[in-house]
Amino acid sequence: MPTTIKIFDTTLRDGEQSPGCSMNLAEKLEITRQLERLKVDVIEAGFAISSPGDFESVRAIAETAQSAAVVSLARLTQKDIQAAAEAVKPAKHPRIHVFLATSPIHMQYKLKMTPDQVLEKVRTMVRFAKGLVEDIEFSAEDATRSDWAFLTEVFSEAVKAGATTLNVPDTVGYTTPDEMYALMRHLTGTVYQADRVAFSTHCHNDLGLGTANSLAAVRGGATQLECTLGGIGERAGNASLEEVVMAIKTRGAYYDAVTHIDTTRIYRACNTLSRIIGQRIPPNKAIIGGNAFAHEAGIHQHGVLANPETYEIMTPESIGLNKNQMVLGKHSGRHAFEDRLTLLGISLDAAKRDEAFAKFKALADRKKTVSDRDIEVLVMGDRIAIEETYTLENFVVNSGSSIDATATIALRNSDGIKKTSMIGVGQIEAAFSAIDSLVGISPKLEDYALHAVSEGEDAQGDVSVKLELDGRTVTGRGLSVDIIEASIRAYLNGINKLLQ
Ligand code: KIV
Ligand code: ZN
Repeated sequence: MPTTIKIFDTTLRDGEQSPGCSMNLAEKLEITRQLERLKVDVIEAGFAISSPGDFESVRAIAETAQSAAVVSLARLTQKDIQAAAEAVKPAKHPRIHVFLATSPIHMQYKLKMTPDQVLEKVRTMVRFAKGLVEDIEFSAEDATRSDWAFLTEVFSEAVKAGATTLNVPDTVGYTTPDEMYALMRHLTGTVYQADRVAFSTHCHNDLGLGTANSLAAVRGGATQLECTLGGIGERAGNASLEEVVMAIKTRGAYYDAVTHIDTTRIYRACNTLSRIIGQRIPPNKAIIGGNAFAHEAGIHQHGVLANPETYEIMTPESIGLNKNQMVLGKHSGRHAFEDRLTLLGISLDAAKRDEAFAKFKALADRKKTVSDRDIEVLVMGDRIAIEETYTLENFVVNSGSSIDATATIALRNSDGIKKTSMIGVGQIEAAFSAIDSLVGISPKLEDYALHAVSEGEDAQGDVSVKLELDGRTVTGRGLSVDIIEASIRAYLNGINKLLQ
């Protein structure tokens, strides 16, 4: 029987804490739904003690998840552990993930603790956590730069105190596949009652080895892999879920392993995340990049036409990329639209379905064909809708090669409609300045990106902006077949988030 490898997703914790990846609660819940559809085994929902907002999101994710275990991270202190236990309480399968560094450099300079003090803390605090929640994961932070004999001692104490999963993080992305394999073999052979606990790894990608090291850990005896959608995470990120999962699927015989993941949900989940955090997936990104299944060279095309397996080691369909989907248009009726929602795995209550259908009809009036991607972004926008202090009433924007750009914007809030005009070096500057003057704040525009949702001149423009105000950064998104309208909507979406 192949070994089942549990997939522990930390997109909402390690991923979310990295620059430019922060999400609001509605966005985190949308990612939770995507992770559940993927059938991940464990969702690390956040770090409950770090802020009241984090505590609330861990709790809301714990209430939402139906099948995955829900985890909160905690340092080895009573306060952290109590907050984590409280936050994951509503989960069907609650888990606390405690960690303490074990490498000489971390113990000496960061913790200012001796190895004996570290052992004592693991003993007492893991036991304390076990008194609150049954399922306890212990991580030896910076494990791959720790002394192996000391690691065995630390993990053995954690097992004696009640830990059920032992995580071996490559915190700084320093290890190599050979070394990770040897370390896993060492630990699974020396830790107290190693056969009664699960070994896990959590690999960072500083040397681009996150996936390779995770897979080497599987060969060495790990049965849980920690990873994130698209590989987001601290610095160069974490091992990416889609890479480790598809490697295990494609090379199942070699690894003698399987996962529970429904790989046909991968593409959608990663795209949802990309849109939420406003970070484009690079075209050459393994598995999910735009070119991952494109065959450009004539000789390759010839081979693929004769037999796809000449150059394709996995099918686009296996990650949920359906190339030959029929498109919908303005003559498509409600039945066809609802059929498509079902095919895309999108379930909406009756009111949201009505709203989505009305939006689909409005879009089909402006655009010849409506693709699956159009429908997804249209529906997702509703799912993660935020409270809008200001809504766009109407706008006029003009520019030319020999005149300044001018923008007149009218916004509505609870006091009624306000309108103003501004000039700028271009249409975007003029429009954003007009919005600033109406709402009374002026965030810094850190990033602006415009992408077409599908092919064709009438494609919807999908704009994302990153706005910074008083140390807080948010992502705003806007969608329209008119790119100026999409930009205005994206900016206003960011402003509304900042005003929340
Ligand atoms: O990288 C790391 O070591 C971590 C731990 C908290 C598991 O994120
Ligand atoms: Zn990490």
